[in-house]
Amino acid sequence: MRNPRDFLKPLANGAPQPLLDVPATPSRMIHFFDPSNEKMAAKVPDIAQQADVVLGNLEDGVPADRKEAARAGLVEIAKSLAPEATLWTRVNSLESPWVLDDITAAVLEAGDKIDVIMLPKVEGPWDIHYADRLIAQLEAKAGVRRPILIHAILETALGMANVEEIASASPRMQGISLGPADLAASRRMKTTRVGGGHPGYRVLDDPDPANPEAPRASAQQDPWHYTLARMVDACTATGILPYYGPYGDIKDVAGCEAQFRAAFLLGCVGTWSLHPVQIGIAKKVFSPDPDEVAFAKKVIDAIPDGRGVHMIDGKMQDDATWKQAQVMVTLAKSLAERDPELAEAYGL
Ligand code: GLV
Ligand code: MG
Repeated sequence: MRNPRDFLKPLANGAPQPLLDVPATPSRMIHFFDPSNEKMAAKVPDIAQQADVVLGNLEDGVPADRKEAARAGLVEIAKSLAPEATLWTRVNSLESPWVLDDITAAVLEAGDKIDVIMLPKVEGPWDIHYADRLIAQLEAKAGVRRPILIHAILETALGMANVEEIASASPRMQGISLGPADLAASRRMKTTRVGGGHPGYRVLDDPDPANPEAPRASAQQDPWHYTLARMVDACTATGILPYYGPYGDIKDVAGCEAQFRAAFLLGCVGTWSLHPVQIGIAKKVFSPDPDEVAFAKKVIDAIPDGRGVHMIDGKMQDDATWKQAQVMVTLAKSLAERDPELAEAYGL
């Protein structure tokens, strides 16, 4: 049992008070970079002007002998980044030999600049509770003024089985991303791809009884559908934000766009970008379509109190579709506040 009155009390004396609501700043794409790679790090200030979030990655992809350089590079970048840029970090996983120093450096040396710590391979609420208390202790020590939030990656079968408990483990939770590579390995899915579909995962039309030998139409299915849908429910039920994750085939821009769009339609607010080309794709996909926004505005204007049944452009509208329209317009407004091009496209 946890006393609900303690939920919004800091977990360490002197740590900032937990937030009731996740800040609604745009995070359509979380652009990953390796802070130990000087060439890549030099581009971060420019990239931060295009991407909603830049993330200094300390975990997979950074070689073991570069872990300390990555940590130091992250702190360096945090100091030099423009104040309006949003910086997150992904630390190493909780069983690794690096994570304690990762979290300590991120909070003590860059705690006022890093908004979110992404925790990989989260398996249950106990992982969040551990990080929650540790971050509070470090925030208190460093005098950090606003709480650093936690973002969990869903990338083990056990984490999947516990996703609702992970989402509701702490008011420090900001969101959850799908980690399709590690999750595929953990589940023993037979794919070597990072996210996206697979030509073998498909359904086939029934044979034509009149011509059983004729070729049968077939279509690929989305192997991530169940996972994403359940993750979206766990997140939205607890007021945190769901994200797709990495799409590893950088050259397959069409496949990437289709996967991002499926996630957007299911309720995800953003995704990861692993290459600058994916920033543009994510921006296009995770900003609602101006025609949809215009229609949603029309619904809201026509039904000011959100009640009753109405026909608008031949489509039935009622209390539920009015709420759908609100989701669309609220998102459009929050993006338009920061993006003059979108503000114009949405007429806001
Ligand atoms: C991301 O971390 C993944 O494993 O897909
Ligand atoms: Mg992973």
